[in-house]
Amino acid sequence: MTTRILTGITTTGTPHLGNYAGAIRPAIVASRAADADSFYFLADYHALIKCDEPARIQRSRLEIAATWLACGLDVNKATFYRQSDIPEIPELCWLLTCVAGKGLLNRAHAYKASVDKNVEQGEDPDAGISMGLFSYPVLMAADILMFNAHKVPVGRDQIQHVEMARDIAQRFNHLFGQGRELFTLPEAVIEEDVATLPGLDGRKMSKSYDNTIPLFGSARQLKDAIARIVTDSRLPGEAKDPDSSHLFTLYQAFAAPTQQADFRAALEAGLAWGEAKQQLFQLLEAELGEARERYHALIERPADLEDILLAGAAKARRIATPFLGELREAVGLRSFRSQPVGAESGKKKASKSARFVSFRDEDGSFRFRLLDASGEQLLLSRSFADGKSAGQVNKRLQSGEPLDLREEGDAFGVWLDGECVAQSPSFADSSACQAAILRLREALAPQE
Ligand code: TRP
Repeated sequence: MTTRILTGITTTGTPHLGNYAGAIRPAIVASRAADADSFYFLADYHALIKCDEPARIQRSRLEIAATWLACGLDVNKATFYRQSDIPEIPELCWLLTCVAGKGLLNRAHAYKASVDKNVEQGEDPDAGISMGLFSYPVLMAADILMFNAHKVPVGRDQIQHVEMARDIAQRFNHLFGQGRELFTLPEAVIEEDVATLPGLDGRKMSKSYDNTIPLFGSARQLKDAIARIVTDSRLPGEAKDPDSSHLFTLYQAFAAPTQQADFRAALEAGLAWGEAKQQLFQLLEAELGEARERYHALIERPADLEDILLAGAAKARRIATPFLGELREAVGLRSFRSQPVGAESGKKKASKSARFVSFRDEDGSFRFRLLDASGEQLLLSRSFADGKSAGQVNKRLQSGEPLDLREEGDAFGVWLDGECVAQSPSFADSSACQAAILRLREALAPQE
């Protein structure tokens, strides 16, 4: 069985080395496993909750997309898309909103922290809190449940959200599943052995501490950042303690075991910090140099990135669209056509909504039309020399035998025994054409 892995990246910042080691690199490695079916997406609707600077949102989406591709994500294997390109997600979000308990969401850490802060400052408890922030976990549940993910790799601060997604899924299954598991119950995965990198000052590398090392800045910027790593004051020649040095921790996260051992020995033997920083720089250059070039090449071709992401969205929607259709059906948002009024109350099945109309053409030949419930023409037959042949073809179309429909542009023909016996009008666009095909199939489906 394949495991569906899904995770979202909020698009509010520029990826740094800590994001790379802690999330991007392990996710890309995981996506290569033979049994992995990975879904990685830019959580740009979530970004709007935290950020009201359009330029920053846009820049971050571009940078994060380019980063993942430059780091080697294979979009033919994984599904890579922008949340905001999948209209099914906000639609599902509403269905979930209608079953998510307000009390459940009241307990979300992020919301509670904001309330506590307001109260502490003597403000109204909900001052400055948007409905977006309050409902953040429901949108995240929609992201996860839309694709029935099994595993959701996240940071510790997100575990509660995945648990809420589970809760909401369970409730939805119970209410609407009629014994079926409509949604898979997702599990959060925390990768224990993944590196949490220290930043320049030794605290966790994080944008909020302003201690990050840029991932794809220039080589110069990388060098400058490394130069600012805080070390102790031991002089060249003095023995250093690798285990109390976050420079060593950074080195370790990117080095092979033998390199690590050599570096440790060199520090213990008195390697100068300046020299050690030079070695760290070389190590990072070796890891990131080529990816940086790919990154800049991608950033310079935003239209190509757009195409890649739109293709990813189309791939994702091949799953989302039919699944959302099932969910709409489950909650009772059903087509009136497929559920004739009265059918459920045991009344005689409503009469067939579409009808055939036979007529004689100006030249005396025989033809028929098929009109849908609203009188719109679905088919016009070819001309027949006599009424009997027209009638036979008409009968066969209603016999329930599989239909041979062939599309041509935004129109279609119906074929019997190798000839086209009837044609649709030309529709305005392909979705109008597809809708007409659906109506035709319904009209000609065998009736009990
Ligand atoms: N909330 C996540 C974060 O801030 C991002 C995210 C949005 C996400 N939707 C998701 C993560 C779905 C996993 C699954 O990190």
